Amino acid sequence: MTLEPIHPTPLANVEQETPHTGNTLLTPLREVQPGLLLKFECDNPGGSHKVRAARFIVRNAIASGEIVPGRTTVIEKTGGNFGFGLAIACHAHGVPVHLAVGLGFSAVKRRCLELFGAQLIGLDMLERGATPREVVESHLTHQAEHERNYFYTDQFRNAGSVIAHEIETGPEIAAQLQAWPHVRQLTFVACAGTGASLVGIAKALKSAGYRVHVVLVEPQGCDSRNGVFTDHKLEGMSVGAAPPFLGWDLIDEVRTVSYEQVLSTRRTFACTSGFLVGNTTAACLSVAHGLARNATREHKVLSILYDHGLWYVR
Ligand SMILES: Cc1ncc(COP(=O)(O)O)c(C=O)c1O
Repeated sequence: MTLEPIHPTPLANVEQETPHTGNTLLTPLREVQPGLLLKFECDNPGGSHKVRAARFIVRNAIASGEIVPGRTTVIEKTGGNFGFGLAIACHAHGVPVHLAVGLGFSAVKRRCLELFGAQLIGLDMLERGATPREVVESHLTHQAEHERNYFYTDQFRNAGSVIAHEIETGPEIAAQLQAWPHVRQLTFVACAGTGASLVGIAKALKSAGYRVHVVLVEPQGCDSRNGVFTDHKLEGMSVGAAPPFLGWDLIDEVRTVSYEQVLSTRRTFACTSGFLVGNTTAACLSVAHGLARNATREHKVLSILYDHGLWYVR
């Protein structure tokens, strides 16, 4: 396998609290599809792009005095990648993290969140049928009883995550693209949970002068634009509410993928590349791979490896 590691020097304006965060690989995998450039966000601490959003939100809240290390506890409802990101971002400042994690999340994921230093809260409430949102609301209402001063990061309302990707991930990709000086046009294939990474990266690439065609990938049966959602297994994308940060004027095309396509892409990609990717990544790859057949020297397809796939193996 031919890897072309392009590691730019860290951006001067991005404070590196965790030395290895960001600066992830951008590379084509020649055996897979040479016209497809892949950003290895799965290789961030905590295993995904979400650590960038978490770190930015925590850092800002500390700067504004909303989080006071030694006094404040961060609270969030997530069992996903944002939880791992928060645990890492908060640990750097000695700030405890309380997470309300739905009982549907795998036991391994719950245990790993604890290993990363997060405390899982509200188990009794969840067992009685409460939602993670209700657990957070109850803890916020009864802070005194819990002897905590909570700061709710509220990832679905906190636009800091868009800024994180706009000033960090997007410019990092633009800097790495200098390795392909002929490239002027990009088809960016991405999915949306909050929409922060898609929006932040697309805006930054446009600002850097690239013509960007944005393709939003959704699970079959979902139509986020019109508020239509089905139950699906692609944890992290099309999560049952319109992505709050997604501006639809930014989306040029929407493609849907079936779960069978996701599984088949995940398997093929694992065999050909040696990387077992997560479900949202496989969904995007199944679209990006086809589009990359038309890539040229000037026009490449870009997609994100959001996280690794071991979590999702059943
Ligand atoms: C695996 C995975 N893919 C994609 C996304 C979507 O990211 P964003 O919230 O930036 O839209 C998430 C978000 O949690 C995720 O965990």
